[in-house]
Amino acid sequence: MTETTDASAAQSSPHQPGHPRLTKAVIPVAGLGTRFLPATKAIPKEMLPVVDKPAIQYVVEEAVGAGLNDVLMVTGRNKGALEDHFDRQWELEQALEAKGDRNRLERVQAATVLADVHYIRQGDPKGLGHAVLCAAQHVGDQPFAVLLGDDLIDPRDPLLTTMLQVQAERGGSVIALLEVPRDQVNLYGCAAIEGDADADGAVVKVTDLVEKPAPEEAPSNLALIGRYVLHPAVFDVLRRTKPGRGNEIQVTDALHELAGMPADEGGGVWGVVFRGRRYDTGDRLSYLKAVVQLGEEHEEFGAEFARWLRSR
Ligand code: G1P
Repeated sequence: MTETTDASAAQSSPHQPGHPRLTKAVIPVAGLGTRFLPATKAIPKEMLPVVDKPAIQYVVEEAVGAGLNDVLMVTGRNKGALEDHFDRQWELEQALEAKGDRNRLERVQAATVLADVHYIRQGDPKGLGHAVLCAAQHVGDQPFAVLLGDDLIDPRDPLLTTMLQVQAERGGSVIALLEVPRDQVNLYGCAAIEGDADADGAVVKVTDLVEKPAPEEAPSNLALIGRYVLHPAVFDVLRRTKPGRGNEIQVTDALHELAGMPADEGGGVWGVVFRGRRYDTGDRLSYLKAVVQLGEEHEEFGAEFARWLRSR
């Protein structure tokens, strides 16, 4: 366990007077990363570098940027590298210190001082819903965020902060919705909504959800991306949710039930429409695209990299 605090966390928290400040983020990281084999045979997929940081670090930075500096990772076997990454590395730090290499020292220490990171093991791989349920005791009775590591959201697009704001104002649970081509809805959870979803940041009422529907059965082309702010009522729902798509316990199925529950029981689901910058690191081709996009933005060498790309 790594214990630290972060001053920046307090500044950006979307705290509403009269509502307790939310601090907890849950990041499920127990997946096997089979899409990246053999690269992920001996290292967790969350540790694959996206330019110069492991993918997981972007996700923790996003949580902290939204004021959530208590991070619970739901891990599994072979995920030790994640714990090492967010822990101190004394020998390395001393060696860099001795060399007077402040720049690299700061980069090494950045992950350590980022957040208060906790770990729990999922044990049986029974699905995303089951991973979230493993967080029940740590989370307690407050709404909390869930961030999936395959989606990176550009820090200039404060999606999670908006979602926390919506939860504080309206209660219930909040999901992020991205319009995708119809023939891709089968890769995502899919939502039916009331009203229009045209503007970035628009808040819509979600009336139904279905996990990875066939395109002809999908209620819309609005896909759930990997950001959720969930009411703690989700835990009781997950306890009774039967395995669904892929024979796994699905968060989408729990949200389907929450959408039909009364507000005074923690029900109600809101969607925040997202049209900002998202980088998908979930499969090899999108991962490569994400690395190129973020490489072009890198403050040290982005411009040179972009010139090189254009010249090819
Ligand atoms: C999970 C969720 C799905 C969601 C997706 C977002 O699926 O089950 O509802 O749309 O993440 O990335 P996975 O990609 O883990 O199969």
